[in-house]
Amino acid sequence: MALEVAGSNPAGHPIPSFLATVAAGCDRLRTPPTLDSSTMNDDRWDAVDAYATGLLQPADPVLDAAIKDSAELPNIAVSPAQGQFLHVLAQAIKARRILEIGTLGGYSAIWMARALPDDGRLISLELDPHHAEVARRNIARAGLDAKVEVRVGAALDSLAALRESGGEPFDLVFIDADKRNTPAYFSTAVDLAHAGSLIVVDNVVRQGKLIETETDDPDAEGMRRLIEQMGADRRLSPAMIQTVGVKGWDGFAFALVLEA
Ligand SMILES: C[S@@+](CC[C@H](N)C(=O)[O-])C[C@H]1O[C@@H](n2cnc3c(N)ncnc32)[C@H](O)[C@@H]1O
Repeated sequence: MALEVAGSNPAGHPIPSFLATVAAGCDRLRTPPTLDSSTMNDDRWDAVDAYATGLLQPADPVLDAAIKDSAELPNIAVSPAQGQFLHVLAQAIKARRILEIGTLGGYSAIWMARALPDDGRLISLELDPHHAEVARRNIARAGLDAKVEVRVGAALDSLAALRESGGEPFDLVFIDADKRNTPAYFSTAVDLAHAGSLIVVDNVVRQGKLIETETDDPDAEGMRRLIEQMGADRRLSPAMIQTVGVKGWDGFAFALVLEA
């Protein structure tokens, strides 16, 4: 997880940059929008995220430390609001087995693993050994190392190994790795699921590139194939929702597995 850190509070906890915009953001809420057409970001999206997380997320030294220790990694983790959303989804479906594809510094893994019961387990797949090392540290600090396992390797290989091992199916799968391989990850996720499992895919909208069919962006193309695949599979109840916030304009796709 690599949220930008603006400084630290008197207790020494890191202050994510977006929280430093709260006061200014409240003023912005009363002023005309400042939509930046080059990046499709609006300052008010950050302010609204900061407002909501300020009220909905109590002080959390473990997640603060995970943010701080992941500061050298790419800034591509889910936002605090999105992490909390994944946590609530895991709680709602009473997930006991969770699979994550794309660990980074373990930020989303911590959010989801915190929803697990005592005998619950989360397996997270990560290509980069250094990302995995940072994640393991953050996960251990969160007291979740008995429940969370980070497996290093190309996700396609790790998924094939998971399928071959024939273990218990997963209740929740969160797909958040390299986007062009997402359709393949999704197919395997369905194979590793049971009726009632939920599959969540991040970054499907990509600032609208999802529908820019004239470009040859392989990540957007991967997401187009994913949405087509989800729509065509009668075993699934699919949905897609756009999101804005500190991570800009993007979206999640969801599939409830009806028949495995
Ligand atoms: C968007 S980040 C994951 C963020 C994380 N889910 C979070 O929100 O905290 C994507 C991660 O996927 C990893 N990744 C990229 N290609 C991969 C592959 N082929 N197999 C496994 N992991 C991969 C990257 O190294 C990166 O750490």
